[in-house]
Amino acid sequence: MPDSLNIGIVGLGVMGHRMLERLQSHPRLRATMAWDANPDTCARALQLHPALRSADSVEALIATPGLHGLYIATPPGPHMRLSALAFDAGLAVLCEKPLTTDFDAARRLVRRIADDKLRGAVNFSLASSHGLACLQHNFGAGSTLPMGTLRDVRIDLAFAAWPRPWQMAAGAWLSERAEGGFSREVLSHFIFVLQRVLGPAAVWSSKPVYPPDGVGAETALEAELRVDEVPVHIKARVDANLPAAERNRMVWRAQWGVLTLRDWFGVTGQRKGGSEESLGEPDVLRARGQADQLEQWVAMIEGRDHLLPGFDEALAVQQTIESMLQTV
Ligand SMILES: NC(=O)c1ccc[n+]([C@@H]2O[C@H](COP(=O)([O-])OP(=O)(O)OC[C@H]3O[C@@H](n4cnc5c(N)ncnc54)[C@H](O)[C@@H]3O)[C@@H](O)[C@H]2O)c1
Repeated sequence: MPDSLNIGIVGLGVMGHRMLERLQSHPRLRATMAWDANPDTCARALQLHPALRSADSVEALIATPGLHGLYIATPPGPHMRLSALAFDAGLAVLCEKPLTTDFDAARRLVRRIADDKLRGAVNFSLASSHGLACLQHNFGAGSTLPMGTLRDVRIDLAFAAWPRPWQMAAGAWLSERAEGGFSREVLSHFIFVLQRVLGPAAVWSSKPVYPPDGVGAETALEAELRVDEVPVHIKARVDANLPAAERNRMVWRAQWGVLTLRDWFGVTGQRKGGSEESLGEPDVLRARGQADQLEQWVAMIEGRDHLLPGFDEALAVQQTIESMLQTV
């Protein structure tokens, strides 16, 4: 593989721009081509990043000689089609989560990826995090269970408003029931962590609350999952009285102690009878996790082993999420 890995970016909204910023200081990953279905959005991105080039169509962009990978940051709807086009062109694909809500298309693509040994991954940002590594060490396959048997897991999410302030500029899709909502957008990261550590979860009960207009995304969700015998309690809601913009906690309670992911990347541990100790502050671990995520991406493009979830793992996450979002 050459030193520089040329990346095409499709979807230049909130996340596409964030990724463009992140790539600027990377020694090997180079965003060279960009495309957005909205020509004004595309033109603005090219103005901000003069080294970027575009093409007449997304098909032409994907077929550009010299590209090594495609990063897809559109809303979920086009993820499968764009990924398939990129695989046709022999590119490695990093696709944003949530993978899709079109399970038939996703299953077909997952099968194709396995059959043809294609390079594809989905961008769950906790995949390269210290928190996930701690959880795997304590509770994952092959663990010697240094904290003893896992008793239960609690996921607690709250948002002062949905979408969150930093995503206000995103399209309407994010606040709509068809593709958006905090379960697909945020809870999916924690379901990814849960299933990566423990394996597939079964939904035992779920109560999503939707606004009466039939269009808006969920405003609250209470659910109970089981992974083997371990209960997983989920509470998530939009709460205008929340003192912060967002709060998230994932608490793993075991025989001899508790491990908690907080504010995404932060980790605390508490031994039975002891006090809670920080095992890493969110900001420091976020920067490290994001840098590591880019190295995993390089490994994926180069066909080496990596920690990023494949399309199959992301599909399993999405199946759990969509099952929780169903009303009976
Ligand atoms: N991994 C993370 O931490 C993280 C964080 C935020 C968002 N996301 C994900 O990133 C994706 C994008 O989210 P966002 O907040 O940037 O949304 P956004 O609405 O801000 O941007 C989406 C962009 O995609 C463009 N687009 C739509 N359909 C297209 C198509 N067919 N071809 C090309 N461009 C198209 C839109 O014009 C828009 O500019 C979503 O899947 C979202 O869930 C991931």
